Amino acid sequence: MCGIIGFTGLKQAAPILLEGLARMEYRGYDSAGVAVVSAGSPAQIRLEKVSGKVAGLYEKTENGAAFPGTCGIGHTRWATHGAPTDFNAHPHLSQSGLFAVAHNGIIENFVPLKKELLAKGYTFKSQTDTEVVAQLLEDNYNGDFQQTVEKVLSLIDGSYAFAILCREDPQTIFAVKKNSPLILGQGDGFNLFASDVTALVEHTRDVVYMEDGQYAKVTPDSIELFAEDGSPLPLAVTRVTLSVSAAEKGGYEHFMMKEIMEQPEAVERALTPRLKNNEIVLDGFSLTKEDLAHFHKIIITACGSAYYAGLAGKYAIEKLCGLPVDVQLASELRYSDIPIDDHCLLIAVSQSGETADTLAAVKECKAKGAKVLAIVNVVESAIAKQADHVLYTWAGPEVAVATTKGYTTQLAVLYLFAVYAAHVLGRLDDAAYAGLIGELRQLPEAVRSALKLDCEMEDLAPHFKDAEHVFFLGRNTDSALAMEGALKLKEISYIHAEAYAAGELKHGTIALIDKGTPVAAVCTNEALLEKSLSNVIEVWARGADVTAFVPAGLPGSEQVRDYAARIVEVPHLRGIFASIAAVVPLQLLAYHVAKLRGCSIDKPKNLAKSVTVE
Ligand code: F6R
Repeated sequence: MCGIIGFTGLKQAAPILLEGLARMEYRGYDSAGVAVVSAGSPAQIRLEKVSGKVAGLYEKTENGAAFPGTCGIGHTRWATHGAPTDFNAHPHLSQSGLFAVAHNGIIENFVPLKKELLAKGYTFKSQTDTEVVAQLLEDNYNGDFQQTVEKVLSLIDGSYAFAILCREDPQTIFAVKKNSPLILGQGDGFNLFASDVTALVEHTRDVVYMEDGQYAKVTPDSIELFAEDGSPLPLAVTRVTLSVSAAEKGGYEHFMMKEIMEQPEAVERALTPRLKNNEIVLDGFSLTKEDLAHFHKIIITACGSAYYAGLAGKYAIEKLCGLPVDVQLASELRYSDIPIDDHCLLIAVSQSGETADTLAAVKECKAKGAKVLAIVNVVESAIAKQADHVLYTWAGPEVAVATTKGYTTQLAVLYLFAVYAAHVLGRLDDAAYAGLIGELRQLPEAVRSALKLDCEMEDLAPHFKDAEHVFFLGRNTDSALAMEGALKLKEISYIHAEAYAAGELKHGTIALIDKGTPVAAVCTNEALLEKSLSNVIEVWARGADVTAFVPAGLPGSEQVRDYAARIVEVPHLRGIFASIAAVVPLQLLAYHVAKLRGCSIDKPKNLAKSVTVE
């Protein structure tokens, strides 16, 4: 997500920091900043920050020339605590400008720490958790930079990577790592570090991958590595062989594959912080039984894959909460006469939070009295700002046009909401609630094990590569999944694909099934396995070439083998949550088919990542 860089050496730091930030732009960010210790007596830390692009930082610093100095830090921020404004951009200075801090991650106990600092008279310029760390450094400064860093690390909880400057020690930077990446780079006459190897490889290929709990003292001629308790550690230097463009993609050929592979962590980020002591705790808001009972219906609105996530979420909400859920394409809802009033809860689902139709539907429904819950990825995006309540999906920046981790995290949050609302409504006894929370906790691992199907999907891709049409079939939750599978294949491989609720086949579509027609039969819904099997038999009897996606080890699923040319075994999850793992092989299949066809996977023709026009 965010990017950090630090440089200390003989050359001017600012141009190197700016170039490093530009190299990390691909990760996505909404603001950027640099801090440089300026030469002179007394030394001073100078700071420049902008909301928006690194290009703005180049402009404001005159390509770095306006910021003389050989030691500095830089940051690209993807907003979490606080809007993406100049003030909230990093680095942050302490009260008197003694320290500057750039930070990736979250300080969990920043609220009580901030209260203490406020009581001591510190004032804050931003809404970030990071500024608390800058002030804590100043508050605990005893004249020794290293001891002060150690002391402050003992006071904070959370996950982080830090770059820390101190005016009194103008050549030194401390780099700290806990659950957020940081890589040290060794040079000749300089040393540097960054959260992403892409920012280093222009300058050095000799790197040290820091481990969690370590910190490093970086000066122009040395890097000293320490454990949390301050004991020195040896430097394990490795040589990076990746090209810059391969490094940007984490070594993968395409962003799409990188993002597919990031899904277990993304789903974990979406769920785990909200599962506290076996309770679901929403972010900064809660809904009472009265609030929920006031709603006579829920409308989910979205576009594209987010709409299909909404369709899958509908089944979970209806089953667990007993509330009717109407899933509407935002482009249709905004011009419809569907009765909407204050008894309606509108759930708007969007990765970008900027999709024009979804935003317009939100505004329309709000004007008619609906309460709005936004499930979005991009913090402070337009849809998030319109909503009464927001649940961020925490997928991290998604670069590939075809969504993958955006979709799975939307599903995860919809499931979470379904369990939360069902509990508040009193529809779950303690055991059922605990059981469902246990199942939510298993989802990241189920997604991780679905990724093991990558090679199998690569082997499967040649069967689809030359197809003119592919049919995706499924029932209930699997029909939503079939739609997402078909969309993934269409948009990146340009093969015509259609999804059908399997029971609908005989009402027309089956006329299209001939000998050899490729059919992907999604049969992960265990309650409907027998029904799905009957549809597989229908298409098999007409000569279809069936690839069936079935839960591994589910009793009864072996019968599908008699009619399917191929079986893909997906991790077996309980019915309403099954889609989150089962979508992974469909994403992988689309990816490998598109790759075989030589398509532009990350940027398919005619498509944009964020559809901000109608
Ligand atoms: C498909 C895809 C699109 C988006 C749709 C909505 O892979 O990415 O269908 O899902 O354009 O975008 P967001 O979620 O940003 O509102």
